Amino acid sequence: MNHNILITGGAGFIGSHLTRLFVTNYPEYNIVNLDKLTYAGNLENLKDKEDKPNYTFVKGDITDIDLIKKIFEENKFTAVLHCAAESHVDRSIFDPLAFVKTNVLGTATLLQTAKEFWKDDYSKKIFYHISTDEVYGSLGDEGFFIEETSYDPRSPYSASKASSDHFVRAFYHTYKLPVIISNCSNNYGPYHFPEKLIPLCINNILHKKPLPIYGKGENVRDWLFVEDHVKAIDIIFHNGKVGETYNIGGHNEWKNIDIIKELCKQMDEKLGREKGESEKLITFVKDRAGHDMRYAIDASKLKNELGWKPSLQFEEGLSKTIDWYLNNTEWLQHVTNGEYQHYYEEQYK
Ligand code: NAD
Ligand code: DAU
Repeated sequence: MNHNILITGGAGFIGSHLTRLFVTNYPEYNIVNLDKLTYAGNLENLKDKEDKPNYTFVKGDITDIDLIKKIFEENKFTAVLHCAAESHVDRSIFDPLAFVKTNVLGTATLLQTAKEFWKDDYSKKIFYHISTDEVYGSLGDEGFFIEETSYDPRSPYSASKASSDHFVRAFYHTYKLPVIISNCSNNYGPYHFPEKLIPLCINNILHKKPLPIYGKGENVRDWLFVEDHVKAIDIIFHNGKVGETYNIGGHNEWKNIDIIKELCKQMDEKLGREKGESEKLITFVKDRAGHDMRYAIDASKLKNELGWKPSLQFEEGLSKTIDWYLNNTEWLQHVTNGEYQHYYEEQYK
């Protein structure tokens, strides 16, 4: 079947990979990318796709209901792939209300508009909400998040994402809006904004700046290459069951300190630096407030029902990622100008 798809947040990290995949693999679909272009949105991320006949960009805010209604009217959307969000935990600690506005009100605005436009015929429509494993809270040494794990968000970011998930389910149960949710673990890869651990440390190693590790570096994250995440979204979008939730994860747990040591090792080799040189940049700094200890996803539902599994080993994915940043220093320079400097000084002073 054909689709007119609204992708929100398509100029961000995951959104740009998702948009690239859909624009490339589905020339018969019309794709509209709606993005506010906050500090995290960057049209350079989709330069290679901007002239494609099945792709249009609209600058705008997901909380602007008049704009959302206008583009629904004009484009007769049959699907929404909702990626737009405020996504950085540390920023949510500074400014929680920005997260409530975009992540909660923005999601509710999209749901309400989709309901209004689709209410006479829900068939062949889908509202796909892209969410996070952080809604499940923090794990101890054992266990994994499954789809039935109770929600226990602990940061303003994860609370806002949990709330948006609840609204999506509420629209399914109350109005029968056809929805799907996926909750994914930490992504890494090209176009990742350098406020997040891996790209921040790649940038700092490149410039021989301190590598700030929160607390003792013992916190654990489950890392997935971003292209594997968007392949999973593609599979779920086309074959997933309406009303269901799917967990997506890499089965790839790393302590922060170990991941940074691996990064230092690989970058020393690639930059022709002396072995151990970059590790000397590691600096333990004040811990993140309310820092979740461990995330780990059980993605067996997705594997067993829809046949998805990650394609890349982590060391290989990390090497590809470092190569991308080393070959795209101009991109890195552009996104670390201006607002980034101000944020960095505030966060790491
Ligand atoms: P990102 O911060 O890189 O990109 C977010 C995009 O949304 C940007 O392009 C930004 O301009 C846009 N945006 C923000 N507010 C907007 C608004 N009000 N209206 C329109 N556009 C707006 O985020 P990301 O890391 O690509 O995350 C994308 C989605 O995936 C988010 O919903 C996030 O919660 C989820 N997620 C991220 C990860 C991860 O590791 N990065 C993991 C699991 C889930
Ligand atoms: O789990 C999915 C989530 O992963 C997504 O929903 C979020 O949008 C995404 O930002 C990410 O959240 P994290 O908080 O896990 O990612 P971040 O890269 O900010 O941090 C990863 C770990 O590294 C975390 O334990 C905090 C730590 N850290 C982070 C930064 C920025 C540091 O030690 N030093 C740092 O400077």
